[in-house]
Amino acid sequence: MVQIAPSLLSADFGYLAKEVQSVSKAGADYIHWDVMDGVFVPNLTFGAPVIKALRPHTDIPFDVHLMVAKPMRLIDDCAKAGADQITVHLECEENPADLISHIKSLNKKAGLSIRPKTKVADLIPYLPMLDWILLMSVEPGFGGQAFIPETLKKIVELKELIKPKKIKIAVDGGINPITAEACRLAGADVLIAGTAVFGQKSYAKAIKALKGDK
Ligand code: DX5
Ligand code: ZN
Repeated sequence: MVQIAPSLLSADFGYLAKEVQSVSKAGADYIHWDVMDGVFVPNLTFGAPVIKALRPHTDIPFDVHLMVAKPMRLIDDCAKAGADQITVHLECEENPADLISHIKSLNKKAGLSIRPKTKVADLIPYLPMLDWILLMSVEPGFGGQAFIPETLKKIVELKELIKPKKIKIAVDGGINPITAEACRLAGADVLIAGTAVFGQKSYAKAIKALKGDK
């Protein structure tokens, strides 16, 4: 079954510990952290000190999505703060292979993400090193945007490329019960969702709906 990673970007920042606990109890498989630097993307969010402060509040894995221009300098701090997996962008200013090797050297799972306009084929050189690929289905930076339908073709293309390797395909942006179903059918392993979880009254019902669990 597909896994769900609620994105804290849409949580109530005034009650982050409570939000992390609630969503963990509601059946989340990961907590997704959108770390933004105001350079790679226009928005600015949180970093390692906030991740560290929240780590004691749940046992589920922390999935850290670095939307920053120069991720290398943040990787050690995120790992120490309690990240279980760290994802960097192929389009960042540093060498993806060096970044992935560094993440792996810290015994963390390594992910690579591509923006909507970047081709799946550009990931090919890095596939042997990766645990996780994050396909952005909106332009990174903000929650609440509409899912870009071309992502579905990219999921199918990537699924075919990575066979039979055990790399998880995660999709991030504009996930709701309808786009979630399309992503599941296309072969996604993990769905990252902000608004469709934290914008709902019942996080448990919201997660079930995204899993297609009736
Ligand atoms: C966007 C982030 C996403 C975002 C998704 O840059 O990477 O994780 O939180 O938000 P929704 O689910 O609201 O599109
Ligand atoms: Zn994200």
